[in-house]
Amino acid sequence: MENERKDTSESDPPKIEIAHLAKSFGDNHVLKDINLVLNKGENIVVFGKSCSGKSVLIKCIIGLVRFDSGTLKVLGKDISLISRHELDKIREKIGFLFQSNALYDSMSVRKNLEFPLRSHLKEKTKQEINILVEEALNNVGLIKTIDMMPSELSGGMRKRIGLARCLIVKPEIILYDEPTTGLDPITAKGISKLMLDVQKKYNTSSIIISHDMACAKLTSNRMLVIIDGEIYGEGTYAELSKSPDPKIKEFFE
Ligand SMILES: Nc1ncnc2c1ncn2[C@@H]1O[C@H](COP(=O)(O)OP(=O)(O)O)[C@@H](O)[C@H]1O
Ligand SMILES: [Mg+2]
Repeated sequence: MENERKDTSESDPPKIEIAHLAKSFGDNHVLKDINLVLNKGENIVVFGKSCSGKSVLIKCIIGLVRFDSGTLKVLGKDISLISRHELDKIREKIGFLFQSNALYDSMSVRKNLEFPLRSHLKEKTKQEINILVEEALNNVGLIKTIDMMPSELSGGMRKRIGLARCLIVKPEIILYDEPTTGLDPITAKGISKLMLDVQKKYNTSSIIISHDMACAKLTSNRMLVIIDGEIYGEGTYAELSKSPDPKIKEFFE
C-alpha cells in the first residue's frame, strides 16, 4: 500500500494547490481562506454569487492579481516566489477563456490563432503553424471560419474560436471564467460539451467558474462554492444538488 500511494502521488502531482489564500482590496476582504487542489485530468467548477471573488481567484492563479497571504502553487511552482521569466513559462502552459473572450477584432481567425504562437514562430515553419491552426479549428468544428473576421461570427462561434486559441499551445491547465454566460441554452450546451471533449482528448485539468448549473452538471468532476471568501461547500454535482443546506440549495433552484 505504502508503495502504491507513493507512485501515484509522484507520477501525478496536483496541477494547482492553493492553501489559505487571502486577498483584500482595502476594506473589501474578498478572499479570506481559500483552499483548493486541482488534480491532473480533473474539472473543478467553482461557483458563488456575483462579487464573491471568483474572477479574483482566477487572476491570482495566473499572477494578474497579487494576493496578500497563503500559498499558491501552479505546476509545482510557488508563484509568489518565482521570477517573472518563470511565471511567463508557467503561463504558457495555462489556457484562459475569459468571459469577454477578447479576440482581436482587426485580425482574421487565422491570425488570432497564430497569436499565442508568436514566441515560437522562429522554431516553426509556416506549414507547421498552418497544421496547428487547422487542428485547433477542427477541434472546435470551425475550420470553415479560418479566413473570416471576428465581427462576422456569432457569440457562440467567437467563444469556440477563443477556446481554439487557448488550445493551440496545448495547455496543461485551462481556466474558464463564465464560459457560457451570455449564450443561449443550446449554444451554451455546445460549449459545455466541447469543454468535456477537450478534457478527454488532451487530459487537461480545469477550473471552471460558472453558475450555469447545466454546464456544471455536464463538465464537473467536483464542485466548490465560495461564500464569504471561503470554500463553504464541496462535492460532486449529484451531492451538492441534493444538499439540504439553504445556502447551497439556492444555487440549484
Ligand atoms: N482590481 C480591483 N480593485 C478593487 N476591487 C476589486 C478589483 N478586482 C475585483 N475587485 C472587487 O473584488 C470583488 C470580487 O470581484 P470578482 O472576483 O470580479 O467577483 P466575481 O465572483 O463576480 O467574479 C468585487 O467586490 C470587486 O469589486
Ligand atoms: Mg467574475
